[in-house]
Amino acid sequence: MHTTKNLTPYVKRVFNFIGINNFISVVAEGLATEDKMETSLANARGKLEKQAKFFYKSDKAFKENLSKIKLMKGYNMNIYNKKKVHFSIKALMLAISIACIPHNSNAMSEEAQEIKTTKKLLVVNASPSLENSHSRTLSHYFVSQLENHYPEQYRLVHRDLAKDPIPYIDDRSLEVILAGTATTLEARSLEIFSDTLIDEIDRSDAIIVATPMHNFTVPAPLKAYFDLVLRAGKTFKYTSSGPEGMLIDRPIMLIYASGGCYHGTTRDFLTPYVQEVFSFIGINNFTSVFAEGLAMHDKKETSLIKAKEELEGHVKTFHEAQKASL
Ligand SMILES: Cc1cc2nc3c(=O)[nH]c(=O)nc-3n(C[C@H](O)[C@H](O)[C@H](O)COP(=O)(O)O)c2cc1C
Repeated sequence: MHTTKNLTPYVKRVFNFIGINNFISVVAEGLATEDKMETSLANARGKLEKQAKFFYKSDKAFKENLSKIKLMKGYNMNIYNKKKVHFSIKALMLAISIACIPHNSNAMSEEAQEIKTTKKLLVVNASPSLENSHSRTLSHYFVSQLENHYPEQYRLVHRDLAKDPIPYIDDRSLEVILAGTATTLEARSLEIFSDTLIDEIDRSDAIIVATPMHNFTVPAPLKAYFDLVLRAGKTFKYTSSGPEGMLIDRPIMLIYASGGCYHGTTRDFLTPYVQEVFSFIGINNFTSVFAEGLAMHDKKETSLIKAKEELEGHVKTFHEAQKASL
């Protein structure tokens, strides 16, 4: 109860600070107390139903705030014991989703205008290693090269699969992928997250995917990411001549690191797979740079130097091939 009372003014203040003032909150509290739970949820549902029309109209703003909801979920987990968590998370999500909806139409700042004119570079990092990752180092290197050659022309959007884990599709959320619609809160939450990932790709002018090779292909989190990005009706569609990508083409740079040397062999399931995934959704301007043999002392240094040199060689073409900013 205490948390809810601190939470509402806090969330209101946070959104107010960034220009979103049209704040509504719906709270279900006392959910850990058996005799209060049912009435409290019923009251909250009643209030939510009244707001539903407005809520779905403003869906876009809600999606953009999903990451904040996830943060709050994590915070909440630490406070409550397991039994209470289930209910408090739901209540919190409902309350915050309502809080996030309304958006000031005149909130476009000068900064936002300026951002529109820069190139949006989406950088997806998939290595579970945060400090000693070669693929991360190489992606940072390529970004720094782009920034050095084209100062202040890039705005980075990071999607870090190790820092912000991607959920797997399970029985409760499968309907989002199969039918494209969500009928439960869990599925809706995943659908919104998937929409956010797709929006990040759609709004980018160029993409870098940096990944290790794990067991001859991409690590599981990158596969889970693709599972949420390849959605019929969103990123590809079925036509009489087969599936067709729905996104505008733009350059995609795949950077991968591996302990052994498999590039170009029948064991390299990584490069053709990533290329196919992006091509399937309409992104065909594909380049790959790899650093392999990193577990072999005699190969490691030369392989890393070669990868950096190759990345330098791609800076100009990668920059010039970018999708025109919308
Ligand atoms: C679970 C696991 C599976 C791996 N599988 C392969 C593999 O199939 N082929 C390979 O060449 N290296 C493999 N490696 C080695 C990594 O590709 C190598 O350590 C690479 O540098 C990791 O990239 P990172 O430094 O960006 O994390 C594997 C490493 C791990 C942890």
